Amino acid sequence: MSNRSHQVRIFALGDVLGRLGRRVVREHALQLRSQLGADLFVVNGENLAGGFGLTEKIFTETRLDWNVDVLNTGNHWHDKREITQFAPEFDHLLLPANMYNVESLSRGWCVVRKPKCGPVAFVNLLGRVFMKGDNACPFRAFDKIYCELQAEGVKCVVVDFHAETTSEKQAFAYHVAGRASLVYGTHTHCPTADERILEDFTGFQSDIGMTGGYDSVIGMRVETSLPGFLGERRKPFEPSMKEPWLCGLVVDIEMETGRCLAIERIQKRWSTLD
Ligand SMILES: [Fe+2]
Ligand SMILES: [Fe+2]
Repeated sequence: MSNRSHQVRIFALGDVLGRLGRRVVREHALQLRSQLGADLFVVNGENLAGGFGLTEKIFTETRLDWNVDVLNTGNHWHDKREITQFAPEFDHLLLPANMYNVESLSRGWCVVRKPKCGPVAFVNLLGRVFMKGDNACPFRAFDKIYCELQAEGVKCVVVDFHAETTSEKQAFAYHVAGRASLVYGTHTHCPTADERILEDFTGFQSDIGMTGGYDSVIGMRVETSLPGFLGERRKPFEPSMKEPWLCGLVVDIEMETGRCLAIERIQKRWSTLD
């Protein structure tokens, strides 16, 4: 990556899952953020607490120990109901802007203003294909938010698009190409190898993957996931503690224009952290 005056470097992690995912962040991602010289650190936190939702204790860790600039969420945002108590206090904790059950807890986007970087907007949206609930159109939701950001003079716009299908993610990316600086997918817990820059402006990757145990079915122990597919009695899901991987993205954005200059997929794998 190139000379970085007038640029902002963003380090993004997708869904960080459970205790093992949090450990990978503490023991590897924070150091990596420094090595990369990232100006802003954004994480998806919908699976931080045992794979389902977010507790206040873990949210405090992301805030004070990880120093995340933005914590996105997704369809699992309210699996731990205590989030409804603390979410309204923090502008940088985003709940998907178009989600049916969020109501007035969050506006789904924020603008981070750090002295060195200038304003950078972060938007959290939910796809509708194969997703539960009567969610509003994410394409139109983005258009509305983008108008507000333009009125505020914000050029750098980063979207965490939390969705199931690659087709909806790619369609969304083309819808916002030339406007958003970066769009990346979360939710599937599987990284895709298709990072690129659309219309010489918008960085894109269909899904940036999970940080957590990959000896699993999307993060959950195989023994607890397989019975459901075999039509056998389901077992309670348990997060995997094996094969920790770190999956993320580092992106450079030109501050004056909001144009993505470089995008690089990050993947680190360990067989164990012990
Ligand atoms: Fe997730
Ligand atoms: Fe999700």
